[in-house]
Amino acid sequence: MRTPETVAWTAEGIRILDQTLLPERVEYRVCRTLEEAEEAILSLRVRGAPAIGVMGAYALALALRREAPPDRVAFLEAAANLRGRIARVRPTAVNLDWALHRCGEAVSRSPETDIEKLHAVLLREAQAIENEDKELCRGIGEAGEPLVPEGGRILTHCNAGALATAGIGTALAPLYLAWERGKRFRVFADETRPLLQGARLTAWELRESGIPVTLLCDGAAPFLIATGGVDLVITGADRIARNGDFANKIGTYGVAAAAERHGVPFYVAAPSSTFDLAAPDGDSIPIEERPGEEVTGFRTVRTAPEGVEVWNPAFDRTPADLVSGFITEKGILLPPYGRSIEEALGGG
Ligand code: MRU
Repeated sequence: MRTPETVAWTAEGIRILDQTLLPERVEYRVCRTLEEAEEAILSLRVRGAPAIGVMGAYALALALRREAPPDRVAFLEAAANLRGRIARVRPTAVNLDWALHRCGEAVSRSPETDIEKLHAVLLREAQAIENEDKELCRGIGEAGEPLVPEGGRILTHCNAGALATAGIGTALAPLYLAWERGKRFRVFADETRPLLQGARLTAWELRESGIPVTLLCDGAAPFLIATGGVDLVITGADRIARNGDFANKIGTYGVAAAAERHGVPFYVAAPSSTFDLAAPDGDSIPIEERPGEEVTGFRTVRTAPEGVEVWNPAFDRTPADLVSGFITEKGILLPPYGRSIEEALGGG
């Protein structure tokens, strides 16, 4: 299947598909400076945990190309400072920090003293992260495809599709492969307030692929589950702790709780780069809070009274005991997660 190219390195800078304009406009823009790349991450022009990992790695390459430190020591020092700065732009998705860490390690390990060659090492690592993500998505798709029931009704939250990755997505990857192999089913997509990733992005990419999709308000999802309208839930994740607690788009916890209450399987699809073995449990996952304006209106339309106080966490934490399994490129990890996560991913 053809997937949109979310992030790519070009001679002019980082080319991104501007997701804030979807579904009305499919427009690409080029980030030529670190500030433009950071703005693109912060404003969700590029979003989804794996995609911002790739974007972060390219942002580091972009910044170091422009900054042009005079020698190896200055290069490594600038890389370390920039890594911290870029990772802070969106703190919940561990893929951002993971990709930056990987790029930092690659340059530290390299014996190169020539700055251009050192920069080439960095860029190669960023490109490897992008290419590997395509493989990881495919692996998740293969592992999860057998779970998709013929004629089934599958609920998802937010967008963990091709738009959130460099490949065919995480939560949507099993669905794309199942569809390609002739299974027929329907996806229910939560609209995902406040920024409507479900309505704008998931509904758009599924329709582009010809997969039937029904859009529903976030508040309707537990009712759909309770009335027997869902056979399977699959979401993505932004960070999964060592015990299987995980963070994902705000609203995920309610969906997981409703699924458990009504005996509907709830799976989380994520690559190994989304597991944070340094986080013992969900409480150690930082939750990004975003501006109140995202809740008091949408784009230019105000929907709440002036001056109202707002709480706008971008993500929530779902406890591991609500998860039926983690669909990864290494297979499906089952409870007890402390053990299965360690066995599959603990080796480094
Ligand atoms: O704020 P966003 O749009 O970046 O949030 C995205 C999600 O919560 C996704 O479910 C998650 O990043 C997994 S994407 C494969």
